[in-house]
Amino acid sequence: MTGLFITLEGPEGAGKSTNREYLAAKLRAEGIEVLLTREPGGTPLAERIRELLLAPSDESMHADTELLLVFAARAQHLAQVIRPALARGEIVLCDRFTDATYAYQGGGRGLSHQRIAALENFVQGELRPDLTLIFDLPVEVGLARATARGRLDRFEQEGRTFFDAVRSTYLKRASAEPDRYRLVDAALSLPQVQQSLDALIPEMLERYRG
Ligand SMILES: Nc1ncnc2c1ncn2[C@@H]1O[C@H](COP(=O)(O)OP(=O)(O)OP(=O)(O)O)[C@@H](O)[C@H]1O
Ligand SMILES: [Mg+2]
Repeated sequence: MTGLFITLEGPEGAGKSTNREYLAAKLRAEGIEVLLTREPGGTPLAERIRELLLAPSDESMHADTELLLVFAARAQHLAQVIRPALARGEIVLCDRFTDATYAYQGGGRGLSHQRIAALENFVQGELRPDLTLIFDLPVEVGLARATARGRLDRFEQEGRTFFDAVRSTYLKRASAEPDRYRLVDAALSLPQVQQSLDALIPEMLERYRG
């Protein structure tokens, strides 16, 4: 692998989707090929799995089903999109990845770390993101932004306890592996958030070129 794999993480309303184009534009301005993608999804089949995961439904989804669907979509996305782009030497910028599985299916749904790690190894082999930006903000701020955005998906309909666990899982993972994670204060105004992203660009370039 010659490219660089960067993931954007954080709860609903944190600003991942708002800022991914911004980051991609900054990196492209350096003459780098950037592939922008998202999870769950990123291929036509994986996007269909995303719809299954996000659509509210009368039949409640078993947590194991949810976990397996997330990794089924990921296997497809890795094979069709992420691994080929990394092999071509591109920067892959991915809106959510396996940290979200630890945060939502692990923290939120209460599935064990071991079970998720087993699937992570099965689906990804050795592949892990090179750098993960965690957009962190108080739960109520994120939910207010997501609510203002429109109809709530199956995850956004969860309660406060769920999102507290999501946030604390992200923060725990970041502090356990400081070399891989960078925290972004996502409660700041958009221009301020983008200033903190600007400050991370040199490090991304160095990791990519180094
Ligand atoms: N720094 C900010 N200050 C105020 N509002 C913001 C900020 N960043 C994003 N928003 C707004 O908050 C809403 C949610 O942002 P966005 O969709 O980027 O979040 P997200 O992290 O992608 O959430 P999700 O995980 O649900 O996809 C959008 O309406 C966006 O315009
Ligand atoms: Mg988003």
